Amino acid sequence: MKTTKLIALVVAIAVSLFVLIPSLSWAADEGAAIYKTKCAACHGADAAGKPAAKIPRLIGEETKKASDADLSKSITGTAKHPAGVKGLSEDEVKAVVAYVRSLQK
Ligand code: HEC
Repeated sequence: MKTTKLIALVVAIAVSLFVLIPSLSWAADEGAAIYKTKCAACHGADAAGKPAAKIPRLIGEETKKASDADLSKSITGTAKHPAGVKGLSEDEVKAVVAYVRSLQK
């Protein structure tokens, strides 16, 4: 009886890992991919921005202080952002915000 419960527990943990881990890493990969294709050209691969072109950096105090909602609003609401950036879906914005957070030092 005890062994059965233990096996059930191990199976349950294995199944939840199978379900959780790929979806987590998928979200991180997606954020990185979106950043590379839609943001890096302006904000730079390292998110340091281009001061000469008045493109703000996305690493540093301003970004750290901004909430996820602030960043999401900037992404879809910045007039200078191209349509492909303003039109990102909610999930894509979430993924890219998570990626930008991961760049903070
Ligand atoms: C065409 C160039 C361009 C692209 C592409 C672009 N940005 Fe921007 N971004 C800008 C400029 C310019 C500003 C500053 C706008 C302003 O000051 O009104 C800005 C502002 C921002 C801000 C607000 C930062 C602040 O300090 O005000 C965030 C956050 C941001 N961009 C994130 C992103 C993300 C994430 C992507 C990709 C999904 C992206 N941007 C793609 C040019 C770009």
